[in-house]
Amino acid sequence: MRRLEMFVAILVAVIIVVGACTKTPTPTVPPTVPPAATPTPESTVPVPQPTTPAPPVTGPTVGELASAGQPLYVASCAHCHGATAQGSSAPALIGPNAKLDRFGNAQALLQYMSRSMPPNAPGSLSAEQYLRVMAWLLLGNGYVQSDTVLDPNALADLLLIVKK
Ligand code: HEC
Repeated sequence: MRRLEMFVAILVAVIIVVGACTKTPTPTVPPTVPPAATPTPESTVPVPQPTTPAPPVTGPTVGELASAGQPLYVASCAHCHGATAQGSSAPALIGPNAKLDRFGNAQALLQYMSRSMPPNAPGSLSAEQYLRVMAWLLLGNGYVQSDTVLDPNALADLLLIVKK
């Protein structure tokens, strides 16, 4: 009888030990799973940030427009305003007697030219041609520099003031 009791006691002890051993590996499994997935989406975040573009104004320079505008002026405007726009039968457009500053900004000047000049044929030049003639007048009066990039959409911001 005592041997049977000892056998049972050993059997119970073995079951407890085995049971304890099988329980231990289960908690070690879960913590190894999650950390591998998280770093990859974080590394993709900084990529779109450097693509924010600087907004440079692209367009022809005043010098380029003016060199195309000068012959247009000679053909359409010079016989009234003078060969160098110094004034003749019509007021001066370049030089000490010119008063283009009264238009305030380049957009107002361009509108006046496009709608009123030449008086016998207003609007006879294309919009691009009026812009070129105006660039030549702006440059001749020192309102802009030759390398100034002229933004046709921001002419109201171009004030007719000589900057020194
Ligand atoms: C037939 C003659 C004639 C021609 C050609 C002519 N203009 Fe004029 N322009 C005038 C007269 C006259 C005035 C003055 C109008 C007034 O004071 O109301 C004037 C005024 C101007 C003014 C305003 C000057 C100021 O100080 O107020 C500008 C700018 C101008 N003309 C640009 C041009 C341009 C650019 C052309 C060519 C596309 C041109 N004109 C062609 C006769 C002419």
